[in-house]
Amino acid sequence: MPGRGLEDVVAAQTAISDIDGRLGRLFYVGYDIHELAENSTFEETVWLLHHLKLPTQDELDQIADQLGVERDLDDFVLRLMPTMAEQTSPMSMLRTTVSAMSAHDPDGWDQSPDANYRKAMRLVARFPTVIAMYDRIRKNLDVIKPNPKLSHAGNLLYMLLGHEPEEEMARVLDICLILHADHTMNASTFAARVAASTLSDIHSAITAAIATLKGPLHGGANEAVMNMLLKIDDPGKVEAHVKKLFAEKKKIMGFGHRVYKTEDPRATVLRKLAKQVGEHVGETKWYEMSLTVEEVVKAEKGLYPNVDFFAASVYYGLGIPVDLFTPIFAASRVSGWTAHVREQYDDNRLIRPESDYIGPRNQHYISIDQRG
Ligand SMILES: CC(C)(COP(=O)(O)OP(=O)(O)OC[C@H]1O[C@@H](n2cnc3c(N)ncnc32)[C@H](O)[C@@H]1OP(=O)(O)O)[C@@H](O)C(=O)NCCC(=O)NCCS
Repeated sequence: MPGRGLEDVVAAQTAISDIDGRLGRLFYVGYDIHELAENSTFEETVWLLHHLKLPTQDELDQIADQLGVERDLDDFVLRLMPTMAEQTSPMSMLRTTVSAMSAHDPDGWDQSPDANYRKAMRLVARFPTVIAMYDRIRKNLDVIKPNPKLSHAGNLLYMLLGHEPEEEMARVLDICLILHADHTMNASTFAARVAASTLSDIHSAITAAIATLKGPLHGGANEAVMNMLLKIDDPGKVEAHVKKLFAEKKKIMGFGHRVYKTEDPRATVLRKLAKQVGEHVGETKWYEMSLTVEEVVKAEKGLYPNVDFFAASVYYGLGIPVDLFTPIFAASRVSGWTAHVREQYDDNRLIRPESDYIGPRNQHYISIDQRG
């Protein structure tokens, strides 16, 4: 019987990403995440995850163009969005919109490898447009059309905030997108692969992934972290607040990890970015409060921050609304999800585990009027 929550179970073979949980290292196709965060771009990382090699200059230009021209949404989604903006939370909107996008994909229900690659790139290209359009409609602001000349990260901030971001801030988001792009068999990627293993279509698999990312034990943690910091608000009250949470046996969002037994390597980069963004915008309070939370949690429970902890103050400093933090995570992770779905299709076998039955046996049907 495997550990609860499938702990330590190997569910798939993959050439996309790898974690050394003991040493706290993450690799995409064998490249250390720190090297990629330092040198790569999100566009290049998308190519790497999908082609399992770094692109040549021509290939990089090609994917950047493709992601640039595929940003516009189809009419069906455009008509749907005002209702979504009025009625749904951001992650529910994203889940429903991706499901709806399947109806009007230019490749239709073609499930050939080439069509699936094009669908994957379209999904990656369009997530920022969907998120930004939703946010601006719900705030009664003009919708900003995507600018194909801007980078993926730069364009995301442009459409969301309504002005071109400073280069330094666009690069900060670019690094965040690289860091969140893939993470082996996390819950949402597993959900995507399970759906793909039934040979369901790529939009359905990504819808399942979004539904899974939504929860606070997975992607939803970044939003919970920021809400905690905003609630505490006062650097002098951090320690008491965190100790109270421990006393109430509550989990501190943004800490702990199933695989890492030491610091999550993405947190190391995000800690630096949180400082950088805080200094850039002239508000280091959230970063400093985060350091205190980290200190207390480490001292009390020996837990390390995960990817969501410092991402919260980075996104906040970039001006991203708190309830869009998880959709922004999804805007990056869709590159990994789609790579995993394509990898699953390439060498598929239905994922169908067993269960351990613990209910009663040998029962006999009793008519309803005789039940006590
Ligand atoms: C990520 C997470 C779901 C991993 O869960 P898991 O591998 O099932 O680990 P468990 O929840 O069983 O935790 C093991 C122990 O550490 C404790 N723990 C783990 N994360 C904790 C946290 N964030 N705050 C307080 N205690 C925590 C658990 O209470 C448990 O203690 P116990 O053995 O005394 O009962 C878990 O650490 C968590 O809920 N973190 C907060 C949510 C979060 O940040 N999610 C984003 C993940 S990238």
